[in-house]
Amino acid sequence: MSPTRCFPKLPETSAWTTLAQHRDAMADVRIADLFTGDNNRFDRLAMSLDTSDGPFLLDPSKNRISVETLGLLCQIAEESGLRGAIDAMFAGQAINSTENRAALHVALRNRSNHPIVIDGKDVMPDVNRVLAQLSEFVGTVRSGQWTGADGRAITDLVNIGIGGSDLGPAMVCQALRPYGRDDLHPHFVSNVDATHISEVLRSLDPATTLFVITSKTFTTQETMRNAHTARAWLVRHLGEAAIAKHFVAVSTNSTAVKAFGIDPAHMFEFWDWVGGRYSLWSAVGLSIALAVGMDAFTELLYGAHEMDAHFRAAPFLDNLPVVLALVGIWNHTVLGAKTRAVLPYDQSLARFPAFLQQLEMESNGKHVCTDGTICATSTQPVLFGEPGTNGQHSFYQMIHQGTQDVPCDFIVVARSHHECEDHQPILLANALAQAEALMRGQTTEEAQKALLERGLSVTRAKALAPHKTFPGNRPSTTLLLPKLTPETLGMLIALYEHKVFVQSVIWGINAFDQWGVELGKTLASSILTELVGDDAPDGHDGSTTALIDLVRALRSTDVDTETDHS
Ligand code: F6P
Repeated sequence: MSPTRCFPKLPETSAWTTLAQHRDAMADVRIADLFTGDNNRFDRLAMSLDTSDGPFLLDPSKNRISVETLGLLCQIAEESGLRGAIDAMFAGQAINSTENRAALHVALRNRSNHPIVIDGKDVMPDVNRVLAQLSEFVGTVRSGQWTGADGRAITDLVNIGIGGSDLGPAMVCQALRPYGRDDLHPHFVSNVDATHISEVLRSLDPATTLFVITSKTFTTQETMRNAHTARAWLVRHLGEAAIAKHFVAVSTNSTAVKAFGIDPAHMFEFWDWVGGRYSLWSAVGLSIALAVGMDAFTELLYGAHEMDAHFRAAPFLDNLPVVLALVGIWNHTVLGAKTRAVLPYDQSLARFPAFLQQLEMESNGKHVCTDGTICATSTQPVLFGEPGTNGQHSFYQMIHQGTQDVPCDFIVVARSHHECEDHQPILLANALAQAEALMRGQTTEEAQKALLERGLSVTRAKALAPHKTFPGNRPSTTLLLPKLTPETLGMLIALYEHKVFVQSVIWGINAFDQWGVELGKTLASSILTELVGDDAPDGHDGSTTALIDLVRALRSTDVDTETDHS
């Protein structure tokens, strides 16, 4: 970035105006020079929380920020009413204004148990009742007391859900695999593409499989289609009477669960104040608790609760979610970075970027503010990611040498669960090196010198040097976890949840609705009728009409349209 570059326009309030002036002063600064000029920069900017395994650390120092930058960003947060917004969320106020609901995922992991009241009613007794119900059920399945229809213990669980009813549980089950058991395997089916369920079912024995149908509404098209396919598969193998032993539900909609044929006694309830992408802490976490046990699930809740307590109490400048959010606002809204990469250096966190895509982009991917006006600033950047080191051999080329800054979050885990001692230092060295390389870069002169030292001719070295030049000065934030445990994972997820909330407050967005998913669903329903019917498509543009006709023609030549799951 250069001082001549055109930065995004910012609102004209006094805090934003001061920040814009500071941006001009920082425009020419190189992050590496900030370290040269201040031996204590890391100590000044990094912050941590204690866990049972060591510190959980946030290091934002490899961003183009100073303590002054964070102070000015805190003023923006104050001006946006962040303190009041945090209090309102924890107090159970209806901060999801378009749906007139609270967003109370913090109540689900409120291990202090202090009352949280909605409409005059403390929600904690209900939360604790469902946790007790989960605990009892998980105990019976894991002990083998709950059996399939022929008396054999359950060996495989299949969570059928999508979006928040899939991504969180799937991500956590993978992340906490070392806490799982070899005789109880979790599987996840989300896509309505029959390939997904077919590939899962083909390896399973119906007699030892338990389906967990997870859907807040119990009307989601993909989930219901998959649930009916699973039901038909089970009935084909074991008969109708077996359903009671092989299907349970997690939902807010008991009427629909009953209509599907699941005994309400085997339904685990949650509430409309739990947003889908914030729901893994609720009964939606049933597949997690089944896979890793209730103790590990409870530890996950404790970890998140620790982050909640910190978020609620810590001053903004020492507050991990707030600082992570402010750095994001600085890089995106103030400096204009359009994307962000999340790079977990832990294979167990392979699904973390996918989970975050929904958490961040479904929450804050909006252009209208809570009051219905168009947002005054640019909001959510595009988020993507892959675990390291795989990403290094894929898209890091662009992050290092492309024409735009891609601020990165490196998630680094110091100790592994595995015994192959030689691997972990290699993984860690790569994580730390990438962040350093992004910041430091390599000048053309340095590149040329290195080429000459390798014996290349001056002509060849000069020709190659521009290609081996790294602009550097590319921002990154490092999160260092001592070990990936239920506690630290709970903290990590809650950290990002609150970061998203802080950003939504500054951008003036309601982070808890998702109207943007509706239009496509409505159109899909009318196109479905046209795809399977005989009437000519009606009311579409020329491209969509032609594509519907073509799909119909192509499908009419396909004799084997039904998948056989036997
Ligand atoms: O994609 C929209 C959405 O409503 C998500 O917010 C939600 O997580 C997902 O669909 C699944 O919804 P449900 O749990 O009701 O099936």
